Amino acid sequence: MEMALHRAFIFLGPPGAGKGTQSKRFAERRTLAHLSTGDMLRDAVSRGTELGRLAKPIMDRGELVPDDIVVRMIEERLDGSDCDGGVVFDGFPRTVAQAERLDRVLESRSFGKPVVVDFEVRPEVLMRRLTGRRTCSVCGEIYNVYDAPPRVPDTCDRDGGRLVLRADDRPEVVQERMAAYERQTRPLTDYYRRLGLLQEVDATAGVEEVRRTLEDVLKRVEGRDGRL
Ligand code: AP5
Repeated sequence: MEMALHRAFIFLGPPGAGKGTQSKRFAERRTLAHLSTGDMLRDAVSRGTELGRLAKPIMDRGELVPDDIVVRMIEERLDGSDCDGGVVFDGFPRTVAQAERLDRVLESRSFGKPVVVDFEVRPEVLMRRLTGRRTCSVCGEIYNVYDAPPRVPDTCDRDGGRLVLRADDRPEVVQERMAAYERQTRPLTDYYRRLGLLQEVDATAGVEEVRRTLEDVLKRVEGRDGRL
């Protein structure tokens, strides 16, 4: 009997496009493991590990951490048994070199071809999303002081954790993150389009509307491929 392939989803898009917001909810709905390289790196920074000490100055400048480091991190994470039901990658891959290596990693671990979703948002909206973002220091839940505020200021609705501003959401760092995206990550859309794997989602609308668009797009893929 042929073994079922694990499912893999890749959420692409510029800083502030809503990848984290949508991928966390999507992973919960579909019982997938949520693999965010940004979250993993921030965790290493806050624990002061060797990796964290290496990554911190790079992240503080808004640049990308070297490919080898993030690919190794993902490979280790994929060994977790929670990945057997499928995974959603959030913020990975970020360069064509990472994508090429991910292709091989997925194939060697019995994952099917990934469904790649590109979240596109008008640039003027991104700055408001990033400067308004607050994140729970306990569970990582994402809020926005303008568009998705917590019930009690600076306090997580879920667990009462303190909400914090991310170090790289300062305007001058955001500019560099946007530039790094255009330079190194945008070419991935063509990479996946050529492979016939890219799905585009206009992510300018509110969280709930983007969720519905995402589900509609994925239903279409499901109907076509019968594989989700
Ligand atoms: P990472 O953590 O991946 O950051 P990013 O890609 O810049 O993306 P963000 O987390 O800023 O945005 P998002 O799209 O997830 O938006 P969110 O849902 O939070 O990476 C950080 C750093 O780590 C990098 O700069 C790099 O140094 C390093 N790194 C990470 N991965 C790497 C890799 N693979 N290779 C090399 N280096 C790597 O939403 C943003 C805000 O908008 C929130 O406030 C939210 O509430 C709000 N919002 C979301 N959706 C909506 C909506 N539809 N309407 C209104 N508001 C919304």
